[in-house]
Amino acid sequence: MADSDTKEGWSEDDSRHFIDYGAYFVPERETQVDTICSVIPSPQENALIVDICCGEGLLASALARRFSKCHILALDGSSAMLEAAGKRLDKTGASWTTSIMDIADSGWRQFDRPVHAFVSSLAVHHLDGPGKAGLFRDLATALAPGGVIVICDLVEARNQEGLTLWERHWDDGVRERATRLDGNEDMLHFFREDGWNYYSDPEADPVDMPSGLFEQLKWLEEAGLVDIDVHWLLAGHAIMSARKP
Ligand SMILES: C[S@@+](CC[C@H](N)C(=O)[O-])C[C@H]1O[C@@H](n2cnc3c(N)ncnc32)[C@H](O)[C@@H]1O
Repeated sequence: MADSDTKEGWSEDDSRHFIDYGAYFVPERETQVDTICSVIPSPQENALIVDICCGEGLLASALARRFSKCHILALDGSSAMLEAAGKRLDKTGASWTTSIMDIADSGWRQFDRPVHAFVSSLAVHHLDGPGKAGLFRDLATALAPGGVIVICDLVEARNQEGLTLWERHWDDGVRERATRLDGNEDMLHFFREDGWNYYSDPEADPVDMPSGLFEQLKWLEEAGLVDIDVHWLLAGHAIMSARKP
């Protein structure tokens, strides 16, 4: 989607909005980033860590700081996001590269060495179910033995009660951040009016295709991975991981 909108629907306007408002819209964002970093086993020097759909590079730069002897490859489909990620990574002093890709393509899923860790935050839901299962298979193939996949993403609710609960929890999370950052709830109103709460109307935007948590764990297992686990879940945002034996 270089310099243009994805055929699936994520646009450069969405990227700019997410850069501006992600601090409000992502519940417990700092905890999410810390959790993802914390479940990656200690890497060897020059190990490769890949952030899939890195956005503005918050997670990639946290990884670069924590694993400063590794190489961080930050991938995204948006040039606005990659530019922001590059500026952030530059300040870490770590070795890094960025590259543009479409998550739905498979051409980017080959690397110059076995990968120590794949991470992805709030993006795999841009693939449908078979697309996610295929991604997990390709990533499992590219992992080094002992390497991990760590994914944070929206997951599908199984019934109306679950949907309603996560809608409320997500609003609560945005309210908490808006109040803490600005002292008012204006950003919660914007979040609602601009349609960012997936659980209030799951059919609204075809770009969003979350799958159930259970089936994603099964796809990780079917990809040949082990130690499949869930480390954190809030407002439909789940962090799961799996290791290559
Ligand atoms: C909700 S943002 C999350 C960004 C970042 N990972 C974070 O957690 O802050 C979704 C990201 O996925 C990227 N994206 C959306 N569709 C994509 C596609 N088809 N191929 C590659 N990247 C895509 C967007 O550019 C954006 O950076």
